[in-house]
Amino acid sequence: MIDKDRIPQHIAIIMDGNGRWAEARGLNRSRGHQAGAESVDKITSECARLGVKFLTLYTFSTENWNRPAAEVDAIMKLLLSNLVEETFMNNNVRLRIVGDRSRVSENVIQAVEEMEERTAQNDRMTLVLAFSYSSRWEITDAMRKIAARVKAGTLCPDDINEHTVAQELDSSFAPDPELIIRTGGEQRISNFLLWQSAYSELYFTPTFWPDFNEQSLHAAIEDYQHRERRFGKTSAQVNNL
Ligand code: FPP
Repeated sequence: MIDKDRIPQHIAIIMDGNGRWAEARGLNRSRGHQAGAESVDKITSECARLGVKFLTLYTFSTENWNRPAAEVDAIMKLLLSNLVEETFMNNNVRLRIVGDRSRVSENVIQAVEEMEERTAQNDRMTLVLAFSYSSRWEITDAMRKIAARVKAGTLCPDDINEHTVAQELDSSFAPDPELIIRTGGEQRISNFLLWQSAYSELYFTPTFWPDFNEQSLHAAIEDYQHRERRFGKTSAQVNNL
């Protein structure tokens, strides 16, 4: 059973395994992404219901631009067809996108930004889609902004600290995720939230993303709730012994 009083504020998910899920069924990879979009719906509603405040989904990485054009196109179409205003409004969920918008086509960006605006007042949970995203891109972009402030004379290099960097990240509006889940069996971070995951608990499951359901989410949260988060301290210190 999960402890409802200790739900992570921010859960981030690497949604992996759509392609393998489809291939195992003799289906086109795009069908796997379609099934994956249904999991997105399920998990978003369940996180909002449980009281999670931020849910970040790794939807499309910078490296995913190298996939076959038909697959990229299918993912873009899925994103567009899943931006349903009614769903966000009914769940009181706010949408925000993080990533390199300059690479995304005009019609996709326009639809996304419209939905960000329309849902800006929703405050039950924020769904963050990491789209055309990579953490190295995000950190590099933050460095560029910091350099510009130094050049403009509004920031002194000696005053640059962790807070300065965190503040310039595209995802600076969200707290660091307490829990990062990766589905699909691989055990790596793949250029996702490298700065923000300094003290995140990592949870890996072999379940392919289209099979990841409410029960799987509960299992991940339960596992997280059994961890001791020490942030570099000793066990005695965190337990006030
Ligand atoms: C990783 O699986 C998944 C992706 C690259 C795309 C994720 C997209 C969706 C879940 C659908 C659209 C999203 C929204 C928000 C509606 P993979 O293709 O790398 O799987 P594999 O490792 O088995 O090949």
